[in-house]
Amino acid sequence: MSDSPIGVFDSGVGGLSVLNALRAELPHERFVYFADTAHAPYGERSEAYVAERTRAVARHLIDRHGIKALVVACNTATAAAIHLLRADHPALPLVGVEPALKPAVARSRTRHIAVLATRGTLASRKFEALQASLADQARFSLVPCDGLASAIEAADAPSIAALCARYTGDAGDFGDADGQIDTLVLGCTHYPFVAAELRRHTGESVHFIDTGAPVAQQTRRLLTAAARLADGEGKVELLTSGVAPQLDAAAARWLVGPAAPASLALPIASAAV
Ligand code: DGL
Repeated sequence: MSDSPIGVFDSGVGGLSVLNALRAELPHERFVYFADTAHAPYGERSEAYVAERTRAVARHLIDRHGIKALVVACNTATAAAIHLLRADHPALPLVGVEPALKPAVARSRTRHIAVLATRGTLASRKFEALQASLADQARFSLVPCDGLASAIEAADAPSIAALCARYTGDAGDFGDADGQIDTLVLGCTHYPFVAAELRRHTGESVHFIDTGAPVAQQTRRLLTAAARLADGEGKVELLTSGVAPQLDAAAARWLVGPAAPASLALPIASAAV
């Protein structure tokens, strides 16, 4: 079992940001990364659709790749379906991602925090509960970033620039003076790839918070507890429900370290929702 791969899954290329952190934390592991590009973006689809896709991809990774653990490297899919996956696969070590509000509260001095995420994540009950649990500790400016994950998928630089300008503008006034936003939560795994573009609008002093490293540490803890840590040669296999050369190009741009060329994988089609 310890030699089996770890499944990592996102709607597209965003989870590569989490995979980078996983590889750094767990260099001896084999990873199978699944980009569900044929069904992306998730963030502007119904919760039922995203839940259905997430369950289908998890089933594919378990049945075809014998994964020993699954990292749902997508905030939108985690919000829609992590509870369903836990019920479906109670023995499988499972790690999800959610916008890092708690670390942001710990970091912020002004107590004004911006959260950039997909519409689906921000509208979810899971996020609502998380925000409510911290509502007395900070003010949160929530910005649904329609189109930004798609622009990143397409590596469409003009759209990325325009959307980063628009959404940082929607968040409010950045800076470290009282009342200003001094902390920005990257609540979608695609957004670390456009951090430099966002930074142009926030200024240097603003803290950016993403979830790659804590997710990788949690994965290590679960594997250790389950006695499933590997000690062999680390590897990455890339799968996509979309166009393989497109995932290869994204991996060449963003993935740290080598990966085998991507291949096409079509998990059992989910019911149309
Ligand atoms: N990367 C995903 C997330 O973390 C969502 C992108 C999408 O809308 O597909 O939420």
